[in-house]
Amino acid sequence: ISAVILLIVIAYLLGSIPTGYLAGRYLKGIDIREHGSGSTGATNVLRTLGKTAAIFVLIIDLLKGAIAVALVRLLYSLDINPLPLNWQAWLIIATGLASILGHSRSIFLNFGGGKSVATSLGVLLVMNPIVAGGTLGSFLIMLAISRIVSLSSLTGAIAVNILMLVLEQPLPYLLFGALAGLYVIIRHRSNINRLLEGTEPKLGEKLAQEK
Ligand code: G3P
Repeated sequence: ISAVILLIVIAYLLGSIPTGYLAGRYLKGIDIREHGSGSTGATNVLRTLGKTAAIFVLIIDLLKGAIAVALVRLLYSLDINPLPLNWQAWLIIATGLASILGHSRSIFLNFGGGKSVATSLGVLLVMNPIVAGGTLGSFLIMLAISRIVSLSSLTGAIAVNILMLVLEQPLPYLLFGALAGLYVIIRHRSNINRLLEGTEPKLGEKLAQEK
């Protein structure tokens, strides 16, 4: 049981690595939480620090989630497609959720951080690449149409659940999709308000009202 707790803590700490914050500190000497949307995610890094930094942050944040789950998979030599319905399946879900929580409630950032979109996608990629690909596809289609990242993230948060159901995924994965999707939506509360007001900025644009 102690190994289980240790893995969940490691996943949380991995998610907690404050990539966007460190990029702001070391590339520009700023606290990214005081700029743009105040998020430490790649979208806010793009509008605050530029494209190269954003791509870097996006990849690392994605890897944080992927590594957290891949670690469990490797340690227990699990074949997770299809997922065996045993306690290890639940450990996969727990570590995935812990890394997502760590990204937006980082122990290194006073329990603040990003909105967990990239980290969730990283977890999904290891769980089921087809579901991950479909979710990413829905995100990209919405981004191409609207040029608004938050709207695209919200689309992905809903699409992941539809894909999980249509592809008849096992219960732990369904639950993961529901919880991660709901969590991402909750983290986008301020974006949803701006979307309703019509003030949400497009890709790379500044916010009308800075943090
Ligand atoms: O992935 C986060 C994105 O959906 C919104 O980011 O900085 O515009 O709030 P931001």
